[in-house]
Amino acid sequence: MKQHLFRAIVLILILATGLGYLVYTGFDVFVPRLASAEGVRVDRLLRFQFFLIAAIFSLVVGFAVYAVFAFRRRPGEEGEGMYIHGHSVLEFSWTLVPLIIVLGLSAVTTRDFFWIRRPDHDLLIKVTGQQFTWIFEYPDYGIKSTELVVPTGKRIKFEMRSVDVIHSFWVPEWRIKEDTVPGLTTYIYITPTEEGTFKLRCAELCGVGHATMRAQVRVVSPEEFEAWLAEQAPPTDPVQLGQKLVSQYCASCHSLDGSKKVGPTFLGLFGREVTFTDGTTATVDEAYIQESIRDPRAKVVEGFQPIMPPFGEDRLSDEEIDAIIAFLKTLEK
Ligand code: CUA
Repeated sequence: MKQHLFRAIVLILILATGLGYLVYTGFDVFVPRLASAEGVRVDRLLRFQFFLIAAIFSLVVGFAVYAVFAFRRRPGEEGEGMYIHGHSVLEFSWTLVPLIIVLGLSAVTTRDFFWIRRPDHDLLIKVTGQQFTWIFEYPDYGIKSTELVVPTGKRIKFEMRSVDVIHSFWVPEWRIKEDTVPGLTTYIYITPTEEGTFKLRCAELCGVGHATMRAQVRVVSPEEFEAWLAEQAPPTDPVQLGQKLVSQYCASCHSLDGSKKVGPTFLGLFGREVTFTDGTTATVDEAYIQESIRDPRAKVVEGFQPIMPPFGEDRLSDEEIDAIIAFLKTLEK
């Protein structure tokens, strides 16, 4: 019996060493590079759990594999194997050890969770998820943007809401993910540590445009960030302002080059005659565009789904709609 135990333990140690080495070398290959201070804690826990899983897997599979070979039925053997009942030491230990591991893990997780979500921050960014685009607002600077630009080394609070369905804010390199939920304000804290360009993806199936609901994330030095802030003041020329608003709010669903997206193209839209789902027609003018932004489901163009969310005055002012119209007039075929 002692000999069996010794051999099984050797097999388990070999397995555990191999798998442990795989976790050690494979982690950086399979997990995206780390780019936030909060993510350090996430990776530490994740790595530790992988080692733990490798150890437990080796223990279970090592014993099982050894038993299958060592205690197999040999030619000429008849009847059933030995029947063993009860082993208090073994039963206590396989209850107590996992209990200690699970409690230990939950203690460490709780500590890290509250550390990651502690409320201090240097910069507030409001995130709005909307089918199928992201809008970032820097309330301290009066800036709205579809590109997320953030400085390194500053702890940022992202305050999130959704105007329609559930979306999910996810930059894999930052490790932490959070849903945007209609009717709720959710939040996360991130301190970017690596400069570079990343991709924000929507990680919650939210409709036909889900796969395209991405935004560019640019992490820059604090000096470059200040320079970017200075550049972002809204343009005074209506056509330029309209172009900026269209790229912020409309361009993920309405193309400017004639191609068909979720909604009709804006190329040559102004003055075009359109047919609606009820068979009536109209010529696109100022009043029609105004109505289509405020109440998009009033008239739906044939061949398209009534999925555009309405834009109230809290999101686009009448002046901003006038600027959008001024820009649309420039998009002649
Ligand atoms: Cu928004 Cu998926």
